[in-house]
Amino acid sequence: MKPYVICHMLGSVDGKIKQNIWGLKDHHKYFEEPAAKIKADAWLVGRVTMQEFSSKQRPALKRGKLNIPAGDFVAEYNAKTFAVVIDPSGKCFWDTNMVSTEHVIEVLTEQVSPAYLDHLRSRNVSYIFGGAEELDLKLVLKKLYKLFGIKRLRIDGGGHVNGSFLKAGLIDEFSLVLAPIADGTMGAPTVFEAEEGYGKRKATRFALKSVKKIFDDFLWIRYTVVRGRK
Ligand SMILES: NC(=O)c1ccc[n+]([C@@H]2O[C@H](COP(=O)([O-])OP(=O)(O)OC[C@H]3O[C@@H](n4cnc5c(N)ncnc54)[C@H](OP(=O)(O)O)[C@@H]3O)[C@@H](O)[C@H]2O)c1
Repeated sequence: MKPYVICHMLGSVDGKIKQNIWGLKDHHKYFEEPAAKIKADAWLVGRVTMQEFSSKQRPALKRGKLNIPAGDFVAEYNAKTFAVVIDPSGKCFWDTNMVSTEHVIEVLTEQVSPAYLDHLRSRNVSYIFGGAEELDLKLVLKKLYKLFGIKRLRIDGGGHVNGSFLKAGLIDEFSLVLAPIADGTMGAPTVFEAEEGYGKRKATRFALKSVKKIFDDFLWIRYTVVRGRK
């Protein structure tokens, strides 16, 4: 079993997702208010996005031989919801095991050091392994369901993490808050960053579920993924 996956993003009309030059006042609300209306047991982001929430300090890691038990680690937690980060080589550091009201779960590869695992355990941050060198995102979803009971997962970006899940065919719904803005920055991350160039991959087709005008001139567009397209 795997969670039902809804990807939620705020994008400009040209699909850009970094707000550096958008000049929006109170800029978090455009993403957060619609996001809060999407029922989910967890949100998941990429390593780059999570570094906006994790510790800004890199703590001193233990040296020498460490005996870390093998396998996934489910820490003790009181939270009902989770904040999941795709962090294959362990670059996020933590002062606490919570982001807001959510318990943190790190998704790692087996390439991370025992000293990093010791850091996570010392902060009571849960972690799961999604592969030896590369992540198997289907396995990651299955573990989130089985170990933490996550049945509905909201993927909140950035573009690379969205693109990976899209390419793996693991997104069920896409929720886009379309900002009335043309950004125009060449090379800036877009809503889905799946692959360079045109390979054999087919684009993903959506069916419109609902559309609503919000914040005067923004659109909140919800789509379901059309599967089995030839
Ligand atoms: N407008 C919005 O709604 C919105 C929402 C979220 C974020 N953002 C913005 O988006 C920007 C970041 O986006 P981004 O696309 O650059 O980064 P991102 O998706 O947040 O993180 C990318 C990183 O996650 C890891 N990763 C993702 N998928 C992976 C996979 N399948 N296998 C292995 N590792 C994987 C890699 O980490 P390593 O590099 O460590 O290997 C990769 O470099 C930020 O400026 C943020 O503020 C905007």
